Amino acid sequence: MNGTIVNCIASMVTEKFGMSHWKSVLVKSGLEEETKFSVLDEVEDETVMSLLKNASEVLNVPIDRVFELFAEYWVNTYAQKKYYMYFKSANNAREFFKQMNGVHDAMTDYLANARPPRFEIREVSKNTITMQYKSERKLYGLFLALVVATAAYYKEEVTARWLSDDELEITFAE
Ligand code: HEM
Repeated sequence: MNGTIVNCIASMVTEKFGMSHWKSVLVKSGLEEETKFSVLDEVEDETVMSLLKNASEVLNVPIDRVFELFAEYWVNTYAQKKYYMYFKSANNAREFFKQMNGVHDAMTDYLANARPPRFEIREVSKNTITMQYKSERKLYGLFLALVVATAAYYKEEVTARWLSDDELEITFAE
């Protein structure tokens, strides 16, 4: 997976919980405590999964809370510094979601083993869409957390419910 994700996890944990916690997560995951990750790195999926799981253990919060903390930090802090143009080019969450296949493709096309997530959007009614998340990584909780955090960024109230394992119904309040 693109190293920017891990770089963001590192910044979030360090900023919100302290450097010593992030070092513990790295060491628990079998990495040097000084390890750094960049947007140009391709990080083994196994390493990313292990960092997420160990963050949950070190911070003593459920994995879904790690996903929420990551998503809120990604949308409001990290991506605002690095990927602000994508937020600027959408007027609302729905428009933003529609850009996501292109954004994930662009962000991974230089990686040797690129396998970005894909999203299939269906317009159901004026206020409702469904979004199917396709990735063999099956990070459903992370996907949901990013949808909710993005809606909050655009100051939109949404309710989200799973229609199946990978398909989320998203309803925007009037
Ligand atoms: C400016 C906004 C965003 C950027 C630049 C971005 C970029 C990325 C990048 C580079 C990855 C690593 C992908 C890989 O290496 O295969 C990733 C992973 C992921 N992104 Fe985004 N993302 C953004 C917003 C979102 C949003 C809004 C969602 C949900 C609707 C989302 C869902 C995910 C998920 C679930 C993953 C984990 C990888 C997987 O499931 O396969 N992202 N993102």
